[in-house]
Amino acid sequence: MSMSAREIKKGVFHVGAQDWDRELFDELIPLSEGTSYNSYFITDSDKNALIDTVDPTKTSILVENLKGLKVDKIDYIVSQHAEQDHSGSIPKILELYPQAKVVTNAKCKEFLKSLLLIDESKFVTVNDGEEISLGNKTLKFIFTPWVHWPETMSTYLKEDKILFTCDFFGSHVASSELFVGERTDRALEGAKRYYAEIMMPFRSPIRSNLKKIENLDVDLIAPSHGQVYDKPELIFEAYRKWTSDEVQNKVTIIYLSMHGSTVKMVERLIDDLVKLNIVVEPFNVVTMDVGKLAISLVDSATVVMATPTMLVGMHPSMAYAAYLFNALRPKTKFISIINSYNWGGQAIDQLKGMFSSVKAEVIDPVSVNGYPKVQDLDAIDKLAEKILMKHKEIGVS
Ligand code: FEO
Repeated sequence: MSMSAREIKKGVFHVGAQDWDRELFDELIPLSEGTSYNSYFITDSDKNALIDTVDPTKTSILVENLKGLKVDKIDYIVSQHAEQDHSGSIPKILELYPQAKVVTNAKCKEFLKSLLLIDESKFVTVNDGEEISLGNKTLKFIFTPWVHWPETMSTYLKEDKILFTCDFFGSHVASSELFVGERTDRALEGAKRYYAEIMMPFRSPIRSNLKKIENLDVDLIAPSHGQVYDKPELIFEAYRKWTSDEVQNKVTIIYLSMHGSTVKMVERLIDDLVKLNIVVEPFNVVTMDVGKLAISLVDSATVVMATPTMLVGMHPSMAYAAYLFNALRPKTKFISIINSYNWGGQAIDQLKGMFSSVKAEVIDPVSVNGYPKVQDLDAIDKLAEKILMKHKEIGVS
């Protein structure tokens, strides 16, 4: 299913593809709303440029869209990011438009040569802040590294005040509506999920990049996934909040239970925290949507992991969740652990060793032998009170 090219400003066209059916990205991330690979064609008095291409599974849609516009030459293919969902159709475009040059930075060039076997002779290498004229329109390249690879850059179409940002400000959404328009809640939900799953580990460089671009005179933010922001401040403000050090009076509980002991303690903790007016977001590792967990981690002050013992240690599914938590590097301030065991196990020490990338204080793990008894539930009550105290200390409760 394809859609024709659509003009977003005079001489600037969306020629990318919606991927309505894709269910998983990176073989990990569930895509509840599909995704899109946005590519933009700019035509001007002297030169034509294409900003990014599309995933190789959708090359034919890009080619049809260019044909529909009767594009007879492309001078520049601007590659803002080497990951194949944006670069994967460059070889086909070079085949169809052999005079085209791939415009990118030195690092991205090396990645493209390695990933797509593009010949050195095809590249024009640009520096941070460099400009290329298309005639009446000017492309200015602004390096925005680590969103989420080291070579990423943005492109500012000066006269039209459009900032093309590739993954930066993206969202995995397939939509018939090109612009965010008035449906801002839907757009921000998708953007937050995308930020949480992909960008969160790079909070610090993203803050630097935000400072670098937020003073540009911008009418449109045109990412390479999701919709075009016709009110740039909406997404700037959201990113400022998500990348800030600010956390909420909230506890994310990641748990699973085999025979009912662990979940009994989790239920007690939820009950306690609710009574203390703390927001609780529990995720059963076995059935959770990874994206929803990631969203919860964007601003939770505390994360509690609750696992039974299996194979003399934490349950393997908890190891997956803990690994993911550490890799996402959320701004969590406090971590606690609940473990149930019978004849032995190392779950708590194992879990404590898995948080090396998260700068959080570990508070009062609770370890329970067998089914929780009165004193065990008392320990859970104390943990809830300790969490409240810690939240008060950092001023969120
Ligand atoms: Fe959308 Fe990092 O590729």
